[in-house]
Amino acid sequence: MTGLLAGRKALVTGGTRGIGVAIAAQLQLAGARVTVTGRQPAGAAPEGCAYYAADFADPGAVAALAVKAAEWDLDILVNNAGINTIGPFDQIVPADFERIHAVNVYAPFRLCQAVLPGMRRRRWGRIVNISSIFGVVTKELRASYSASKFGLDGMTAALAAEAAVDGVLANCVAPGFIETDLTRRVLGEAGIADLVTRIPIRRLGQPKEIAALVAWLVGPENTYLTGQNIVIDGGFTRV
Ligand code: NAI
Repeated sequence: MTGLLAGRKALVTGGTRGIGVAIAAQLQLAGARVTVTGRQPAGAAPEGCAYYAADFADPGAVAALAVKAAEWDLDILVNNAGINTIGPFDQIVPADFERIHAVNVYAPFRLCQAVLPGMRRRRWGRIVNISSIFGVVTKELRASYSASKFGLDGMTAALAAEAAVDGVLANCVAPGFIETDLTRRVLGEAGIADLVTRIPIRRLGQPKEIAALVAWLVGPENTYLTGQNIVIDGGFTRV
C-alpha cells in the first residue's frame, strides 16, 4: 500500500483515537498528507499528521472547519468522528437526539459540501463516511444512533449519485463491533464477552482492519465502487 496515496491530501475527522487514528495512520503510511480533527484544543495527532480542533456539537466550529476544508484542496475526506448514546425510546432527551445528529450527520454533510467543488474541479475525489451496522440493521435502545447512521447512508448514496460523473466516489463503511473506547463504554467487558460468542469470527474487529478497507476505497485501485454501505463485521449481521 505504501506510496499509493503519494501527493494526495486527506482529512480524517475524529482521528485522535479508535478507528480514526488507525485510518489516519494508514493513509499517512500510504503517502497521503493527512490532517486529523479532534475535540481538544491541543489534541494528539498520529505521528506526521496535522491537527485541527473542532467540536462538532457546535455548528459554528463545523462552519469554520468547512471553510478550512474547502481551502485545503482535499482529495480524500473520511468522516469518522461519531458518538453513540443508547437508551429507551421514550426516554430520549430531544437535545441528545439533536446532538448525535449534529456530530454524526450534520458535520459530515457540511464537510462533504465543502470539499465537493474542489474535487469536482480536479475531477478526482474520494469520500468515506463511517456508518455502523446500526445504520444497516438495528436493535432496541438504538433509535438516536440508528436514525443518524441510516441518515448518513442516505446522504452518502445521494451524493454518490450526483458526483460520480465528476470522478468523485463516495461510500459508507459500516463496522460491526470494533475494539475501541466507544465499544468498551457502550457494552462493558461482560457485554463484550457475551457478544463475541455471537460473532462468526469470534472476536471484536480491530481498528486497523477498518483502516485497510478505507485505504483501499480512497486509493487508486477503487475506480468503480461508489454509493455503497459496506459492512465489515466478522459476519455478525449475516447470521
Ligand atoms: P471513539 O469514541 O474511540 O472515537 C471517536 C472520535 O470522534 C474521537 O477522535 C473523538 O475526538 C471524535 N468525536 C467524538 N465526539 C466529537 C465531537 N462532538 N466533535 C468532534 N469530534 C468528536 O470512537 P470509535 O469507536 O473509534 O468510532 C469511530 C466511528 O466509527 C464513529 O463514527 C462510530 O459511530 C463508528 N463505529 C464504531 C464502532 C465500534 O465498534 N467502535 C462500530 C460501528 C461504527
